[in-house]
Formats: sequence, C-alpha cells, structure tokens
Amino acid sequence: MKKLIALLLAGVMCASLAACGSKAEEPAEAPAETEAPSEGAEDAEAPAEDAEAGGSEAAGEVTTVTEGILTMGTNAAFPPYEFYDGDDIVGIDAEIAELLAEKLGLTLEIMDMDFSTIITSVQTGGVDIGLAGMTVTEERLENVNFTDSYATGVQVIIVKEDSDIASVDDLEGKLIGVQEGTTGHTYCSDDYGEENVLAYTNGATAVQNLVQGAVDCVVIDKQPAISFVEANEGLKILDTEYVIEDYAAAVSKENTALLDALNAALKELKEDGSIQAILDKYIKAE
Ligand code: ARG
Repeated sequence: MKKLIALLLAGVMCASLAACGSKAEEPAEAPAETEAPSEGAEDAEAPAEDAEAGGSEAAGEVTTVTEGILTMGTNAAFPPYEFYDGDDIVGIDAEIAELLAEKLGLTLEIMDMDFSTIITSVQTGGVDIGLAGMTVTEERLENVNFTDSYATGVQVIIVKEDSDIASVDDLEGKLIGVQEGTTGHTYCSDDYGEENVLAYTNGATAVQNLVQGAVDCVVIDKQPAISFVEANEGLKILDTEYVIEDYAAAVSKENTALLDALNAALKELKEDGSIQAILDKYIKAE
C-alpha cells in the first residue's frame, strides 16, 4: 500500500491535467460485447453499433464535449475511488465511468485535475462529467446537475494514535487539515472557523502534514482515509462519523440529454449488480 501511495503522489505531480487511459489491463480495442445484456437493456430496433457497445436506448442521442468521447474530470489522489496505477487512473469511479461510457456507445477519457476545479470544468465544457467521489450538495446543485447517487460517503477524522482527540466534540480549537474545495473543508470551516482549518490540494498531502505534526487531525472521506492510514504508521480513524453523504456524477445543466442517458445507464448497472460488484471489489466489508 505504501508503494501505491508513492506512485499516486508521483503520478499526481507528473500527470496533472493530462488525459489518461482509464484502465491498465484493457487494451483500447477491447471488444465491449462480452456479457449478455441485462434484460430490457436493449430494444429490438437498436442500431447494430449500439447493440455491440451494449448501448441503452439513450445512446446516440447525446452530445459530448468531444464527439464519441465521454470526458471525465477527476482528482486521482482519492483511493479507492480514483488513483494511479502506473500511468493509468483506476478505481471505483474509473470502472463505473467505463461501464457508463460503454452503455452510451462512447469511449472514456479521464482528465486529472485539482478537485476544486472539477465543477467549473463541467460548467465550462472542459469535461462532460465530474466523477470524483463527489458529494451532492445544495451549493454545487446551483452550478451543475447531479446524476442519481451510486455510493455513500462518510466524513471521518484521522488522528495520530496518541492524540487527545477522541471524537468530533474535541475538535474545537484544534488545527484541522482538509482537502481544498471538499465538503470536509466546508463543514470544518463552518463548524470550527476558517482560522482553524488548513486546506491542501490533495488528501495525501493533508495526511502527510498530520504525520509531520503540522495539523492535529485530517477530516476526509472514509475510504480514502482507510487507504491513507494503511499507508502511514501511527495513524487511526476515530469511530465517530462526522457527516454522511451521497456521491454522484456532476453534469452540465446545459446537457440534460446526457444527464438522462447517464441515469438510465446507471439504473441498468445498479439493477444488474455491476455497480455493487465494483464497490465490493475495492471496499472491504467491515
Ligand atoms: N466527497 C468529498 C466532496 O465531494 C471529497 C471528494 C474528493 N474527491 C477526490 N477525487 N479528490 O467534497
């Protein structure tokens, strides 16, 4: 795991903003028609290419930033949702996006960027979707639409093993590390005052600063927290959960056809168990 985090950091540094292939193990020309479609996934008069791509009825009607391509914006320092495996961005979101793109008859391209720029990139047509373990919030809904949720997130608190912080009630007056532009950043600033919050461009850096004693704790989503704690000695996650949230894909308010197509595809992928299988692959049962 330590190696993974190191790779991840190296990847973030050298490949920021680069478009990346989505999966290491799949060659670009991998045929998509391997599995039998779930019932009702295709109708009789679907054109041949759509059928071959496993496309749902919505395929073909959507326009994307680049024709034929579904461009996904993410911040790939967030295991197990998105992280680097060599030069490739992998993880839960990458795999879900691959299936969504396939359903829509599109090719997936992933762009790595700072988390705080994803929503703007969706709004301005830099990317088609933001898929980044992103929480649905009222504030974000003012700027983008969200698909139906595909996973639940929980904000947790990471501390050093010998910390005197035992629960959320002890955070008053402590220096809290967060990832910039995340819900954790917002909640902590609102609840404990901006002067007590230090925001880092990614979660791994925030955790590194906790290890070095620059902050007293880090507030971040639970699954990345588990990865970071596994990769660093002397850290633990407090039992108390701070906030429970829904993850979904952000889509431009201008592109409701894409939103509808993604929701239709997501519904099929939930019903046939594909989404759960991807979550189970990366998230260990507790
Ligand atoms: N769930 C949090 C939020 O939406 C954090 C997501 C961070 N994701 C990432 N890929 N870095 O604000």
